Order: sequence, then structure tokens, then C-alpha cells
Amino acid sequence: MKRIFSGVQPTGNLHLGNYLGAIRNFVALQHDYECIYCVVDLHAITVWQEPAALRAHTREVTAAYLAAGIDPKHSIIFNQSHVSAHAELAWIFNCVVRMGWLSRMTQFKEKAGKHRENASAGLFVYPSLMAADILAYKATHVPVGEDQKQHLELTRDTAQKFNNDYGVDCFPITEPLILGAATRVMSLRDGSKKMSKSDPSDMSRINMTDEADAIAQKIRRATTDPELLPGPAALDEAGRLPEETRKARPEAWNLLGIYAALSDKSWSEVLQEFEGAQFSAFKKALTELAVDKLGPIGAEMKRLQADPEHVDGILRDGAERAAAIAEPILREVQDVVGFLRP
Ligand code: TYM
Repeated sequence: MKRIFSGVQPTGNLHLGNYLGAIRNFVALQHDYECIYCVVDLHAITVWQEPAALRAHTREVTAAYLAAGIDPKHSIIFNQSHVSAHAELAWIFNCVVRMGWLSRMTQFKEKAGKHRENASAGLFVYPSLMAADILAYKATHVPVGEDQKQHLELTRDTAQKFNNDYGVDCFPITEPLILGAATRVMSLRDGSKKMSKSDPSDMSRINMTDEADAIAQKIRRATTDPELLPGPAALDEAGRLPEETRKARPEAWNLLGIYAALSDKSWSEVLQEFEGAQFSAFKKALTELAVDKLGPIGAEMKRLQADPEHVDGILRDGAERAAAIAEPILREVQDVVGFLRP
């Protein structure tokens, strides 16, 4: 059986990278898989969150899931802290993962910065909670953006080590699904940094709730280079974008990738369309497309956020359905480990 699990942190400023790298794929996958989508508030508090903001952002992510087209009758949408199996399994995994594995995580190094001793212990063990999220449902596939690849490798290692240590075949070895033309959307101001919720400059990202004029202004001011747009000859024989080509003009390729993803076109179709064009003309087309695709989602998110009771009801229902799957799996794991039943 194929089962999807994925999550988004309620840390505010949901952006185009979250949409193209993750949420949009969540929507497409629900037709072919059993899908479980989580708002990961336990992960969010690994760095300080203002309590009122955390509540608002939890509803914001839920609204984004719904507005983008996840059907809560078909898929499960819920909040991580509502299902205690996540925290309980994470503890067991804290005793399976090795300090060395966690120390190698680039996300921890980036987020903790120079003063590692001041980072929360939760930030360090973040990946074992993520493994618990996924494996509490024995999920087989996890759609994410490229930046989560290393965490998913750790999930696979955790499942493997647990299975080996206890001599069982309890957990599946989960496959990442990194899909589409925009698996790593970069900052609009600096093509060497990924688009991020925590970038202090709002001009660096297109937020999912941005109005048309903000989207237009951000794309107009996005960093580009003076050269004309390349043609399909820039691609390799398989129609892919070679890494060196991307590195040579990171900002240009980032905008082209966003266009390809939003228009559901291949790289080669997009390059044919704009070969030899000036950036000003391309940016106009990109703005129209982005407003067309994001405008209705942003408006629906705002409508849903104005109705917190409705959103909370969806989360309550989702938590019940999620717990019904996770609790028997947690019980099985506790038996394997040797915990007595209460
Ligand atoms: P988070 O909240 O940082 O991001 C949510 C999703 O958006 C993707 N993403 C991007 N994709 C393309 N370009 C970008 N610039 C970009 N920025 C973010 C992320 O890859 C992610 O898919 N650790 C996870 C949340 C999590 C999770 C899980 C995911 C917790 N438990 C279990 C999958 C399964 C995170 O911080 O995502």
C-alpha cells in the first residue's frame, strides 16, 4: 500500500517555494495515494514562537492546504500536537538515532549558526521528530522540496536501524518525492539563497497571500542579469538543466523555473517561448501568470483565516482520523521495544 505523509511548519510567511516545492504537489498526489498532511507545530517551537502568532500561523497553513485544493474529506489535514503518537515515537527514535547523524544535518548547522550551545535541544533532535511523523503512519512516500532531502535520508536510516536493532520488519524505507520544475525556489534578491520564510526582506519572496500589486512589484525588482533569455540549446539531451548552466545565471534560471512550474510547461517549452527575449518582457508574462495562479489561492486563504471555527473543525476531524492510524502503530512499536502495556 502507498501512503503519503508530509508537513509544513506554522512559522508564518508561507511563500511560493512552499507552494511549488510542496503544497501544490500535495494536491496533485491526493488522487493516487492515501494522503496525510500535517501542520507541524511541535517542529515550529524548536525556535521561539510567540504563542498567539503560532495559533494564527497554524490556521494559516491549514488555510493554505485547503485553498490550494487539498480535500479534507478525502485526505487527512491535522495538527501535529493533537496526535500524541508523534512525540512518543520521537522519544523512542531519539534513542535510535546517533548524535553523529544529527550533527551532520546542514539545516541544524544553518539554523543554530555560530552559537550552537544556545540552540534548543529540540532543534538538534528535530530530524528524529520528523522521522516519527512519517513512520507513525508507516508512510511510504514523502513529497518535499529539495532542502528536506537530508532529513529524509535520516528517516530512512532511522527506520533501517530500528528494524535491524530489534530484528523486525516494522518500518518501510520511505521514498522522497521531489517533484516539478521548482524543487528549490531561490530568493528573488539573491540567487544563491533559497526563498525562505525567515528572510528579513519581504522582497526576497512572493508570499502566498500577496496581492497582485505586491507580486508585480517583487517580480519587477527581482535581481536579473543584462543578457537576453537563453533558448532550448542550453539544456542537455534529456531536456534537463545542467547544474553548471544554472550556476552561471542563478537568478535568471530561478525565474524561468518558477514560470515552468506555474505554467506546467517543460523547460524546453519555456525556453522556446522566450528565446532571445528581454527580461522586462519575460517578467511581465511571469507576473501575469503568478497573479493568475496565486491570486485565487491567497484570497481563499484570507477568507478561511477569517473563519477560525471552520478551520479548527477540520483540524479536529483530521486529528481523530490521524490518531486512529498512528495509535495502533505506536502500540506495535512499544511492544517491539519491550514496554509493558498499561
Ligand atoms: P518547511 O515548513 O520549511 O517547508 C515546507 C515545505 O516547503 C518546501 N520548501 C521549498 N521548496 C522549494 N523551494 C523553497 N525555497 C522551499 N522552501 C521550503 C520544503 O522542502 C517543505 O517540503 N521539516 C519540514 C517540515 C516537516 C516535514 C515532516 C516534512 C516536519 N515533519 C515530515 C515532511 C515529512 C520543514 O521544515 O518544512
